[in-house]
Amino acid sequence: MIDVDALTVCYGSATALDRVSLRVAPGEMVALVGSNGAGKSTLLKALSGAVPTAGGSIQIRGKFAHVPEGRQLFQDLTVDDNLRLGGLRSRDRDTSWVYEIFPDLRAKRRQPAGSLSGGQQQMVALGRGLMSQPDVLAIDEMSLGLAPLVVRDIGQKLKELNSQRGLAVLLVEQNARLALSLCNMAYVLETGRVVAQGRCDQLIKSPLVVDAYLGSASGGLS
Ligand SMILES: Nc1ncnc2c1ncn2[C@@H]1O[C@H](COP(=O)(O)OP(=O)(O)O)[C@@H](O)[C@H]1O
Ligand SMILES: [Mg+2]
Repeated sequence: MIDVDALTVCYGSATALDRVSLRVAPGEMVALVGSNGAGKSTLLKALSGAVPTAGGSIQIRGKFAHVPEGRQLFQDLTVDDNLRLGGLRSRDRDTSWVYEIFPDLRAKRRQPAGSLSGGQQQMVALGRGLMSQPDVLAIDEMSLGLAPLVVRDIGQKLKELNSQRGLAVLLVEQNARLALSLCNMAYVLETGRVVAQGRCDQLIKSPLVVDAYLGSASGGLS
């Protein structure tokens, strides 16, 4: 679905991505983990065409949706209007199926998005992405600022969308433990370079990943 080959992105003289290669196969859930400033959001912006590339190539098959970092909702517009904005390109105005995926949002559909909790706003952002009927969806820092139970809920939804609808997912997370537990494959990004990649069940045991991203509080393998 996504084939990134030797991608380089620069901001002025600073190299944010240095020959990064990454693949997301159909129906796969792929994690992209790394610390703040590693270049994760830059990769998603490059996939969306929001930043120019300085080298390498990007191929995307099918429709791509990007749920941006910080959710980026229109706070004063209603939940339903925010969802409909996601359907503009596919001319889809029917939002009812999104409320079947996120029943908590149904009662709030006429409320301003800004009045919702952080978790519900993340659901609206995800629902807005789904409104474009994507084949592959990238979600940037889904868990940021949310309580663990809420994160687990939304993670479960992503897994269901993946297993029941065949949605391919690129999950971009500083929370490596979460991403590695939800996905099949993962890439670890450090200052613009891929320093590790492979199956999540392998990476979660690799010393590099354990020491740098899972910490001593890991308490063994989750
Ligand atoms: N618009 C920008 N202009 C200049 N530098 C930027 C810009 N956006 C990001 N950067 C820099 O690029 C690097 C990667 O940032 P980013 O992709 O946001 O990382 P991450 O999402 O992994 O936290 C960082 O060093 C960041 O400071
Ligand atoms: Mg980021």
